[in-house]
Amino acid sequence: MAPPAARLALLSAAALTLAARPAPSPGPGPGPECFTANGADYRGTQNWTALQGGKPCLFWNETFQHPYNTLKYPNGEGGLGEHNYCRNPDGDVSPWCYVAEHEDGVYWKYCEIPACQMPGNLGCYKDHGNPPPLTGTSKTSNKLTIQTCISFCRSQRFKFAGMESGYACFCGNNPDYWKYGEAASTECNSVCFGDHTQPCGGDGRIILFDTLVGACGGNYSAMSSVVYSPDFPDTYATGRVCYWTIRVPGASRIHFSFPLFDIRDSADMVELLDGYTHRVLARFHGRSRPPLSLNVSLDFVILYFFSDRINQAQGFAVLYEGWTVYGLATLLILTVTAIVAKILLHVTFKSHRVPASGDLRDCHQPGTSGEIWSIFYKPSTSISIFKKKLKGQSQQDDRNPLVSD
Ligand SMILES: *[C@@H]1O[C@H](CO)[C@@H](O)[C@H](O)[C@H]1NC(C)=O
Ligand SMILES: *[C@@H]1O[C@H](CO)[C@@H](O)[C@H](O)[C@H]1NC(C)=O
Ligand SMILES: *[C@@H]1O[C@H](CO)[C@@H](O)[C@H](O)[C@H]1NC(C)=O
Ligand SMILES: *[C@@H]1O[C@H](CO)[C@@H](O)[C@H](O)[C@H]1NC(C)=O
Repeated sequence: MAPPAARLALLSAAALTLAARPAPSPGPGPGPECFTANGADYRGTQNWTALQGGKPCLFWNETFQHPYNTLKYPNGEGGLGEHNYCRNPDGDVSPWCYVAEHEDGVYWKYCEIPACQMPGNLGCYKDHGNPPPLTGTSKTSNKLTIQTCISFCRSQRFKFAGMESGYACFCGNNPDYWKYGEAASTECNSVCFGDHTQPCGGDGRIILFDTLVGACGGNYSAMSSVVYSPDFPDTYATGRVCYWTIRVPGASRIHFSFPLFDIRDSADMVELLDGYTHRVLARFHGRSRPPLSLNVSLDFVILYFFSDRINQAQGFAVLYEGWTVYGLATLLILTVTAIVAKILLHVTFKSHRVPASGDLRDCHQPGTSGEIWSIFYKPSTSISIFKKKLKGQSQQDDRNPLVSD
């Protein structure tokens, strides 16, 4: 069942852009600190709700009047401990912390953590709607999740997928998706209507993803990148058989790590194969978890995933990095390139921030833009107010990750 050649071109091009983008690319220096869409895996040390103008977080070992504290969760569940770092112990859409002792008024807040953005999440952007940042096609769904939107866009060969207001999905290839400006990540905290633990944008705020995220298969050739399990950040579906090729020209070895690995079933598995001989180099599953890192002395590796008919789970994120014999020199060049790219991006971003009214370049699919206007957004503030109340009550939530785990 080989996908058409066009798909290959699209995927490898997308793979390259995924790694060429400075912000989410892993690699040298401090890498991303989150690999889940909602930062449930965040274990960093930010203890303010925002780096600028935020509020200091209360210590989890001093919040006994609230449902989440170290007395109730003494074994580090959800990353709680004798500290005041932002955490997401309750399956919310983003890490948060308590900012007040008592539950009148605002007593907890989402944290804006720049380091907590999973690779493939391109950020939260403003959408003035006319035209929207992604002009390819769109749909609305009251069962929307991040991956149902990504799959919808991927199936139509778009590079980017964006979710807005919890139930709207936009697709496009628009390289200028940032044209109305970037927004704080905390402004993209509307829950997805189909999964209340995932963020799906906000009012006039679109959260963007690369459609490579959660694809079942693909060809990667960048020096470093991240491969997610199929259907990520949803749980992987049953009966999945996926192959990804990782071919890093000039690499003497490829370094792998699994920042996220949640496969409970021992029949479901992840394998690393020699790209040339197809020999199995390593096999991991529910009872045989991967080591922190491993090196393969090859420039061509195949990643394989299989799931049987039962027991779905969150899945995995595999981070790979090719090393050449001139590894250090390459790293240095990569770092410098990333910095220069970042500066350039910043400069371009700034100078384009306010688009001149006559400067609207025509889109590639002008014919399809008509249907987009028909989408009507209701303010979603009621949802966040409702949730603010919820956190105060003794969490009768449909699912509490701390209890269920
Ligand atoms: C990856 O590349 C191979 C050929 O090298 C091709 O047959 C396959 O369809 C590609 N896979 C995807 C998902 O594009
Ligand atoms: C946050 O942590 C830093 C060091 O990790 C510390 O210096 C600072 O005082 C802390 N801030 C608050 C509000 O606790
Ligand atoms: C909570 O933990 C911090 C850091 O270890 C400590 O300074 C503080 O005294 C603790 N508070 C209580 C009530 O134990
Ligand atoms: C793999 O290579 C990296 C980079 O040189 C090194 O830091 C790491 O310790 C190696 N890991 C293993 C398991 O050999």
